[in-house]
Amino acid sequence: MIRITGTGSAVPARRVTNDDLGKIVDTSDEWIRSRTGIESRYLAVEETTTGLSAEAAKKALAAAGVSAEELDLIIAATVTPDRFLPNLSCEIQRELGAKNAVAFDLNAACSGFLFSLDTAYMYLRTGRYRKALIIGAETLSKIIDWTDRSTCVLFGDGAGAAVLENVPEETGCADRASGAAAGNGAGESRGILSIRMGSDGGRGMVLSCDNRPVSNPYVKRESGLSYVSMDGQEVYKFAVRTVPHIIGLAVEEAGLAVEEIDLFLLHQANIRIIEAVAKRLRQPMEKFPVNLRDCGNISAASVPILLDNVRKHDMIKKGSKIVLAGFGAGLTWGATVLEW
Ligand code: UT7
Repeated sequence: MIRITGTGSAVPARRVTNDDLGKIVDTSDEWIRSRTGIESRYLAVEETTTGLSAEAAKKALAAAGVSAEELDLIIAATVTPDRFLPNLSCEIQRELGAKNAVAFDLNAACSGFLFSLDTAYMYLRTGRYRKALIIGAETLSKIIDWTDRSTCVLFGDGAGAAVLENVPEETGCADRASGAAAGNGAGESRGILSIRMGSDGGRGMVLSCDNRPVSNPYVKRESGLSYVSMDGQEVYKFAVRTVPHIIGLAVEEAGLAVEEIDLFLLHQANIRIIEAVAKRLRQPMEKFPVNLRDCGNISAASVPILLDNVRKHDMIKKGSKIVLAGFGAGLTWGATVLEW
């Protein structure tokens, strides 16, 4: 059985409120709150994607009781690594001293953590590796145009991590005993029950950020930096249509009904998207924890930070049935159903 056995998260120290942003662009707390639900975000000043990732990873390893040397695999999902080379995962490997791990990055924007989970799951499922660390980490503030009020109010920085293990069945039995002892009435935890992913490159330009332009002795081109640009309404429509659909498929594949899901942990982009998904699934908002008020949209880091937040607030019990769902640039999307 393949399970998440530990989680961790980290955000920068500097908290920036909507009123703070009102001093640098033509916006207001009222507009940002009412259109998005966001009240503040954390922005890196001294922090790096690597540093935030390593902090989140150390917490996840401690929660799982797994040492860095035991890790076989590290997958980091990011669109904002500190360097082109080496990759973020290798930098995290170095910071942790995880010398036995294979490490590589994955870019699927705001769905990145779901794609990392899917990839790690398949490696563990085949038996090739037993213990994986998956991370979603961003310092989006460095690819945002801080003069563009339509995007700069939305995003934040941070990292979330999870340890994924292929747990032998006998450990599952021990867990079942401890679950019963905890009095939650849960049966044997079955770990990850289903994963469904999707992509549509045809609609990719609704949310984009160019890389550095080609620059070599054979081309004359102004080199310039590009920042995130987004057709917010198109992304909004895509999200409210696609997310309920992919969740429905994943829940069905898990052999469950939507009503049996205890928590839906969605990518934190906009409270109105979360409310629309809840409505389409006919599920109460109490099942949809939210941290975007505090953190804004942290792309690949958003789902694992939320997972860590709800775990720390004891909102997850052994046997809880949880959906994780992401959506974003690419376009990409994905959902998984797991039993804690
Ligand atoms: O993680 C990636 C996924 N991304 C998303 O999920 C984003 C999805 N989209 C959204 O969340 C929403 O579309 C936004 C929050 C980005 C925008 O909300 P909206 O209700 O679609 O607003 P809008 O773009 O239609 O803009 C409405 C008005 C415009 O002014 P006019 O043309 O009506 O005069 C904008 O210029 O609001 C203006 N506006 C702002 N006003 C104050 C745009 N940004 C701001 C701002 N402050 N920050």
